[in-house]
Amino acid sequence: MINRLWQITEFPFQPARLQHFETILAIGNGYLSARAAFEEGHAGETPATLVHGIFNHAPGMAVPELAVAPNWLPLRVTVDGTAFSMKTEACDYLRPAGGVMLGYRRTLHMDTASLRREVLFRAESGSTVRLEFERFTSLDQPHILGQRLMVTALDGAPTVGIEVAFDRRDSNNSDHWRNVIAAADADQMTYSAATSQSGYRIAFASRLIAPACVEAGADEHRATLATTVRLEGGSSVTVDKLTAIYTSRDVEDPLQSATVALKDAAADAYDALYEQHCRRWREAWDSCDIEIEGDDSAQLALRFAAYHLLIAAPRQDDDVSIGARTLSGMGYKGHVFWDTELFALPPLTLTQPTIARNLLTYRYKRLAGARQKAEAQGYAGALFPWESTDTGLETTPQWSDPQPDGSRIRIWTGDTEQHICSDIAYAALQYWRWTGDDAFMLAMGAELVLDTAVFWGERVEAKNGRYEISRQIGPDEYHENIDNSVFTNRLVQWHLQQALALLEWLRVNAPDVARRLVAELELREARLAHWRDIAARMVIPFDSERQLHIQFDGFFDLEYVPVLDYQPRVGGIWHMLGHERALRSQVIKQADVVMLMALLGEEVGPREVMLNNFKTYYPRTDHGSSLSPAIHAWVAARLGLDDIAYEMFAQAASTDLENNQGNVADGIHAAACGGLWQAALFGFCGLHLTEDGPQVDPKLPAHWRRVSFSVTYRGEKHHFDVANPAV
Ligand code: BGC
Repeated sequence: MINRLWQITEFPFQPARLQHFETILAIGNGYLSARAAFEEGHAGETPATLVHGIFNHAPGMAVPELAVAPNWLPLRVTVDGTAFSMKTEACDYLRPAGGVMLGYRRTLHMDTASLRREVLFRAESGSTVRLEFERFTSLDQPHILGQRLMVTALDGAPTVGIEVAFDRRDSNNSDHWRNVIAAADADQMTYSAATSQSGYRIAFASRLIAPACVEAGADEHRATLATTVRLEGGSSVTVDKLTAIYTSRDVEDPLQSATVALKDAAADAYDALYEQHCRRWREAWDSCDIEIEGDDSAQLALRFAAYHLLIAAPRQDDDVSIGARTLSGMGYKGHVFWDTELFALPPLTLTQPTIARNLLTYRYKRLAGARQKAEAQGYAGALFPWESTDTGLETTPQWSDPQPDGSRIRIWTGDTEQHICSDIAYAALQYWRWTGDDAFMLAMGAELVLDTAVFWGERVEAKNGRYEISRQIGPDEYHENIDNSVFTNRLVQWHLQQALALLEWLRVNAPDVARRLVAELELREARLAHWRDIAARMVIPFDSERQLHIQFDGFFDLEYVPVLDYQPRVGGIWHMLGHERALRSQVIKQADVVMLMALLGEEVGPREVMLNNFKTYYPRTDHGSSLSPAIHAWVAARLGLDDIAYEMFAQAASTDLENNQGNVADGIHAAACGGLWQAALFGFCGLHLTEDGPQVDPKLPAHWRRVSFSVTYRGEKHHFDVANPAV
């Protein structure tokens, strides 16, 4: 194993990319994530820790969002009285006023989910020290967060001061928090607060473990623990900071639990906690690492994608889900979209099925909200919100933030992007096929699939002896409220067929469950006959002359814009055309017909039709969403369009690592991560299920020598070693 391919390194310090690194170097453990802000703070940083499920609707905000938790990172150092900061310029480098940083390297170790920073710092006194910071959020004990600092005297015999603090003013999201209390005693400092609207309580307790005496302090703003050490030349000191966190989602009394957990953790000591954490990560990687020979950048990108999915994926909690930007940034306010079910979830279904089940359970537990939304629109069944939080209610804002000219754009996705119902059904069925988890299907999955089918059965419109769906938004969000989105209509047709087959299966294999669901969801014979009729006579827009699907009614009547000519462009073409013109053009935001081909494969049509579709829609696609390139890579690989497949794969791989959409400050793109994994396994390796279990049908990029990976099928691990015969 080559270590470099497990590491993301920042060297030297790159202040211009501060927020980019803050996102990509985030650490987490499926309970929370912490952006890679600095222990001592830095101008322009956004030190956010986000905890799953802690949503709040603060006064003045259009919709609820994840509340940034109080900052648990502060750990400040002074060297002979000079406060350490990452100041890089000095007039006098031998005795620098205010100190100067002489060296810097920061590395995210993805194999152990730990972040390390090494710094050389010279104080005003001329003393030079090496500071080595390390932090991890325990995968073994998700409520325990560890930080370590080692200081080594290189020149001089400095006096080193170390202070850790909880500062009420550090909470950069004060609108979300009330009842804030910071306190300290000889043993620990604590911080507790409650969200302003939703009333979640959160509590932290921290301890500073140092070889010298630790003093506690508190004033109206801050609680602190501090120690001072005098170093001989060449000697080192190590201090550890352990923090415990609980919320009222976990326990009745978060402060009490944090205090007890901290005491237990301190008894174990940092090294033991860290070792247990690493052991858990070895287990996690053992089931989901993909090894690639012949392409280091693809190797690194795939690990990076898996890492960010793993740190965001709830392990112990089935009442939360992965937001579109994971827990690594405030983009989309922590809301959950279809990104979870069709992008992030499949890798988990195949490698970490218990986590996948948690995510599906999150949806199951929100059926009440989905039924409420359907009912509000006059339908029976379940219509899931386009954007979801803790409540399960629709939380898509209705209006955009102000545009440069001050105007706001109406956001329709919460009203008419309804394919999410079938996306969730697809994910539940995919999970069931791969895991064979009948217990899940009987207890939850069937209800998800059937009640969303009930919604569609009512929503579909009968017209001229056929069935249509008007006023929809497909994956391509540049076209709003269009009629007969081929993606939606075809997926709904598939969904109803699957629902009918599932009910048959239940009748044979679990008649009690079938009877219960038939009664509760009112699955009368007339309703089922209607589903059959819809499935037989659904309009699937198709141009029989050109042998291709039509993205929606009237698509080809719109203005043609040769998207591929607008190169090299930074940002979406949408910005160049403007909202109105984009709506009236054939520019497609993201994989749409191509997404359908990824999901249903050959069921969409013969190879000739698939190729026609790809060749028609690819040159019209802006990839204005990070969800797009990986799906194109997957489908292009299956169609043998090798160059496009690799180009799209590389674009997907650089979404977050290179910030090629320019918005990584807002968080990791969960869907791009999951999409990349699917492009590699379903696309290049051709992984698919047969009667005999999983099999591959490789179409590897020419320079990939070998791909090795494991997937879990029905509780058993299957290992694949896919060699490229061409190399
Ligand atoms: C995409 C959606 C996606 C959302 C959240 C939008 O830009 O068009 O498909 O669900 O971002 O990632």
